[in-house]
Amino acid sequence: MHDSNSVHDSNDAGAPATARAHSNIGLIKYWGKRDAGLNIPAAGSISITLDALATETSVAFRDGLAEDEFRLNGVRFPAGRVTRFLDLVRTAAGQERHAIVTSTNNFPTGAGLASSASGFAALAVAAASAAGLALDERELSGLARRGSGSAARSIYGGYVELHAGSAPDGSDSVATQLLAPHEWPLSVVVAITDPGTKAVDSTTGMRASAAASVFYDTWVDTAEADLAGMRAAIGARDFSALGELSEYSCLKLHAVMLSTRPALAYWNAGTVAAMHAVRELRASGVEVYFTIDAGPQLKALCAPDAAGAVAAALASVAGVVDVRVSGLGGGTVRLD
Ligand code: DP6
Repeated sequence: MHDSNSVHDSNDAGAPATARAHSNIGLIKYWGKRDAGLNIPAAGSISITLDALATETSVAFRDGLAEDEFRLNGVRFPAGRVTRFLDLVRTAAGQERHAIVTSTNNFPTGAGLASSASGFAALAVAAASAAGLALDERELSGLARRGSGSAARSIYGGYVELHAGSAPDGSDSVATQLLAPHEWPLSVVVAITDPGTKAVDSTTGMRASAAASVFYDTWVDTAEADLAGMRAAIGARDFSALGELSEYSCLKLHAVMLSTRPALAYWNAGTVAAMHAVRELRASGVEVYFTIDAGPQLKALCAPDAAGAVAAALASVAGVVDVRVSGLGGGTVRLD
C-alpha cells in the first residue's frame, strides 16, 4: 500500500471513531507548566483513574464543513478548544477537513465534576483514529496532554504517573502506568458541595499561581520528593502512606492557590466541613483521606470495604448535597 494511504486510509472512508475515557484525580497534584504553548507540566504528577466518571466521544471528519461542530450531551458548544486540539491531529495526519465531535458524559455536567481529563483523553483517541493516525499509547498520552495535562494520565487505568520530562518539545512528557486497577483496588467517595460551581479554570489558575504566588517555586522544587514518596507507597501497597501524602499534596496545592494574588479560593463551607468529617472518621478508626482539586468538591480515598461508611458519613455533612462512590477505572479504549 502507498505510504500516505496506509496512514490516511480511514480519512478517505471518513470513518467515524468512538472512544471511552475515564476521569482521574491527582494524588500528587499537577499545577504549573514549563511550556504553556506545548502544555508541558513543570513537574510530574500521580493520579488514579476513576471508573464511575466516563466520557464517550465520537469524531467524524466530513467534507463540506465550514468549521468543527462540537456537541456535549446533545447541546452544541463553541468548538474553540476542541478545534485547537483537532488542528494538531489534522497537521499530523495531513487532514484538512473539519469534524463533527459528539461527546457524552455519564455524570451530570452541571455537577462540577466535568473534567477535561476524560474529555481530552477520549477526544485524542477518537480523533487520532478517525484521522487515520496509528499512535501507540505513549503517543496518545502525549497527544492528550496537549489538550489538557491531566488527560495524558487518563489514557491509562489504575495508578498513573505523568512525567514532566526534559525534552524541549515535550516528547518525553507522557504518562506511564504504575499499577493496573485490579492490582490494588481503592475506592473514592466524591462529596459534591456545589453542583453549579463556576470556578477559575485550571489553566488560568496555574498561570496566575506561577506569576503571583511566593510559594510557587517551592511547589515545583519539592515535587520530586512527593512523587518519589508516592511511587514508593504505591509500590508497597501502603495505604496509610498513600493517603497521608495525598492529603499533604492537596493542602500544599491549596496553599499555593490561596497565596496567589488575587487568591484562588476554591473551598466553600461544605468543603471545609467535609475535610473535618474525614479527619474525624480517621480518628474514629475508619482509614480515609481527602483530596480536592480546583473546585469545591471533596474526594475521599478509602479501602473498598469502608466506602459505604464513608459515603454515609459524608452524606450527612452540612453543605454536602450529593455523594458518589467510584472504584478504579481502566484506560481509554476505542469502541468501534
Ligand atoms: C488541580 O489538566 O485541567 O486537577 O493542562 O491546563 O488543562 P490544563 O490543566 P488540567 O489541571 C488539573 C489540575 C488539578 C490537579 C491534577 O489533576 O493533578
